[in-house]
Amino acid sequence: MFHRVLITGANGMLGQELVRQMGRKPEYDVLATGRDAAPRFSGGSCGYTHLDIADPAAVERLFADFAPDVVINCAAMTQVDACESDRDTCWQINAVAVETLAACCRQHGARLMQISTDFIFDGKDGPYREDARPAPLSYYGRSKLAGENYARGAGTDRWAIIRTVLVFGNTSDTRSHFVSWVNRELSAGRTIRVVTDQWRTPTWTVDLADAVERVVRFRKSGVYHVSGRDFMSVNEFAHVIAETAGLDTTLIQPADSSSFSQPAERPARSGFIILKAETELGFRPHPIRDAVRATLGRALSDPDSDRPASDPAPPGSPAED
Ligand SMILES: NC(=O)c1ccc[n+]([C@@H]2O[C@H](COP(=O)([O-])OP(=O)(O)OC[C@H]3O[C@@H](n4cnc5c(N)ncnc54)[C@H](OP(=O)(O)O)[C@@H]3O)[C@@H](O)[C@H]2O)c1
Repeated sequence: MFHRVLITGANGMLGQELVRQMGRKPEYDVLATGRDAAPRFSGGSCGYTHLDIADPAAVERLFADFAPDVVINCAAMTQVDACESDRDTCWQINAVAVETLAACCRQHGARLMQISTDFIFDGKDGPYREDARPAPLSYYGRSKLAGENYARGAGTDRWAIIRTVLVFGNTSDTRSHFVSWVNRELSAGRTIRVVTDQWRTPTWTVDLADAVERVVRFRKSGVYHVSGRDFMSVNEFAHVIAETAGLDTTLIQPADSSSFSQPAERPARSGFIILKAETELGFRPHPIRDAVRATLGRALSDPDSDRPASDPAPPGSPAED
């Protein structure tokens, strides 16, 4: 079946990967949208137009013009500490704009795929299943939980919420993520302090985009937890990256969360149980070392490894969302 797919936030880390994967499938007519006048990626057989999802009139115009069957909302204010200090902007993008998208989907009969986060949980007893009780610690988490609730307004069986965790992957611009930060700092011989008391199931954009496409293709609705399989501390993840890159692991120093003065509190034991995605979607994430190797630009005998490595500016925190 042929789908007209509207991707918001298409210049972001997940958005770029989704455009790459879905843009090459003939069953999808993809329109990528982002805040920039032009795309930050090249190639991919899809159209691109400017769209600020926090501008309701622009969103309504685009629905009228493009008439999407499916909307994948990858747009979000993802800087967790900035969300704490600029709460109004955070709420407008992560919550109110999702209400607008859901209302337009309901009106036009489109399905809404809302991307969400492990930061809706308090991190007391992860890894989490889909039915675990949300209890966000940060304003970012609260805004994303509100976005989930608004997404349900698209109508019965017309919404899906795909939550994910600590995402990394290549982009064609200079978007920073944990893997590129660790790689760059250690390559330069600099010491890094990385928390030992935050646990995650790190997620490769290639796997995440594949899962989102499966939700679309199988016409699924409901909540899905999508991440890698490996549950590890952020410090352990830094070691995996260093070992995979052949870098000096002694430059990675252990640290407690309490030694960082960050405005937003992060969950301690987060991460996901992905059994539902595995059984209902056939989701099979790559082994973590393969994903890291491909992200670092090393050879991997996988068709998804044909992307250039990126090496952008350091992330604002050791375990950024
Ligand atoms: N990255 C993670 O570790 C992580 C973990 C859990 C969940 N998530 C979720 O995954 C989803 C995708 O995030 P990502 O990792 O791809 O983050 P990202 O690279 O920061 O991408 C988000 C994109 O949204 C765009 N955006 C922000 N406000 C917008 C607006 N008003 N209108 C249109 N576009 C707007 C941003 O544009 P600019 O580039 O112009 O700012 C950016 O390109 C988000 O829902 C996020 O909450 C991410």
